[in-house]
Amino acid sequence: MAMALALRRLSSSVDKSIRPRFNGGSLYYMSSLPNEAVYEKEKNGVPWPKQLNAPLEAIDPEIADIIELEKARQWKGLELIPSENFTSVSVMQAVGSVMTNKYSEGYPGARYYGGNEYVDSSLTPWLCFFIIFLLLMVVYIDMAETLCQKRALEAFRLDPEKWGVNVQSLSGSPANFQVYTALLKPHERIMALDLPHGGHLSHGYQTDTKKISAVSIFFETMPYRLNESTGYIDYDQLEKSATLFRPKLIVAGASAYARLYDYDRIRKICNKQKAILLADMAHISGLVAAGVIPSPFDYADVVTTTTHKSLRGPRGAMIFFRKGVKEINKQGKEASCSDVLYDYEDKINQAVFPGLQGGPHNHTITGLAVALKQATTPEYKAYQEQVLSNSSKFAQSLVQRGYELVSGGTENHLVLVNLKNKGIDGSRVEKVLESVHIAANKNTVPGDVSAMVPGGIRMGTPALTSRGFVEEDFAKVAEFFDAAVHLALKIKKETTGTKLKDFVATLQSPHFQSEVAKLKHDVEEYAKQFPTIGFEKETMKYKI
Ligand SMILES: Cc1ncc(COP(=O)(O)O)c(C=O)c1O
Repeated sequence: MAMALALRRLSSSVDKSIRPRFNGGSLYYMSSLPNEAVYEKEKNGVPWPKQLNAPLEAIDPEIADIIELEKARQWKGLELIPSENFTSVSVMQAVGSVMTNKYSEGYPGARYYGGNEYVDSSLTPWLCFFIIFLLLMVVYIDMAETLCQKRALEAFRLDPEKWGVNVQSLSGSPANFQVYTALLKPHERIMALDLPHGGHLSHGYQTDTKKISAVSIFFETMPYRLNESTGYIDYDQLEKSATLFRPKLIVAGASAYARLYDYDRIRKICNKQKAILLADMAHISGLVAAGVIPSPFDYADVVTTTTHKSLRGPRGAMIFFRKGVKEINKQGKEASCSDVLYDYEDKINQAVFPGLQGGPHNHTITGLAVALKQATTPEYKAYQEQVLSNSSKFAQSLVQRGYELVSGGTENHLVLVNLKNKGIDGSRVEKVLESVHIAANKNTVPGDVSAMVPGGIRMGTPALTSRGFVEEDFAKVAEFFDAAVHLALKIKKETTGTKLKDFVATLQSPHFQSEVAKLKHDVEEYAKQFPTIGFEKETMKYKI
């Protein structure tokens, strides 16, 4: 106890005296040090500090050039992949900072250091001093992670008495696997939305012949699906299947579902089976944080999310878990020792570290803290409202142009276009979109027999909304999409051979070069009018 107090006092004094002052300089500034500092190092006579402090362009022009090319691509293209976004310059500054240097296995206040467990009053002062020194090494790392956790709970309006969060998980798929490993025994049963019906690989996809996702190797998985006539999740069938399959965990979450989840209905199904409800809100977490769609937290036991999609943070993930009282004791008295408590916290934290990960990526956690701070601002709410409004306008414009949408529309950030009535598939359209600088995903739609030639295209609004696109711009994007589909139909007509590679050969043939170039030019001229995110246009190497 005395040790902990001493440490806290020491850390706050260190904090005041040497807290770094960041002046918000440019990314370029961050990547190089003033000559004076370099000179200081040179005086020591070793050559490498100068190299270590030199800017990227000087050290590695090849990589610097690739980054410049990627900037130009992001500026000139229409980014419609619904799982992508453009994170802010402030997030990138944190991610590209010195926070990448520190190892800190464990959790704030409980980092793993050999010797920690021996802290007691019988220690010699020298040993105490040594341990305090070791602990101080992670003070700033602890500050960043604790702040990130606090902001995560605030961003989703969660009571810290009832919810906890792990911010160390490296990405969405590992986060889901960590939850399964924490809360299930090997080969216990999971139900989730089928991948071809909009689910995600990390929910346990397998085919007749192959367990595609490791989740289905280590656990038994059974999918639930859409009602193919409505395009909505078939909850009745899910309930029937769950009664037979008796899952230990049901996942509510999707990668290509344009409708809102009925969490209440899934909660009831879980209650019947005494199953855990895991909401994977990876795609929609930004919308949930802004409060513009219903939150899974009212129903779920555990919630996972990636942090780089609609949330607009750095590439990473979070795992939220319920804590505190699960069931009040039979006598109905509050907080008695016979209450049943949630036991997720330790299990999940241990599954992340040391179960499946080592040292946390402190630069990502720091960047995530910045993104979560932004998520509570009025600008963020306005942004997410615009994401929804753009998505609705986009859906409407596509329907007006004769496109069929799975489920008939959208209530979130994405649309799933079923191209079958147009006489073309998602793979061919995706190729043409790519060649005219529109990024979108081919996607299976209900009724597809092959995932290799899916019948649809999935598109979303978060990324372009970050660049300032509003409703009328999405009407224009629908026009570009339509033009690309018409071009794909023409190319298909002129293609001999049935394979995708035959189609691509025709697309790249001189015959279609001018039409492709014209549409690409129009797309790029349109996209170039909008702000770049995370870097200034003026600083770009490739500006045309
Ligand atoms: C619903 C859902 N969960 C999990 C993931 C996995 O995220 P990651 O690619 O970070 O592993 C995705 C990614 O698209 C997703 O859509």
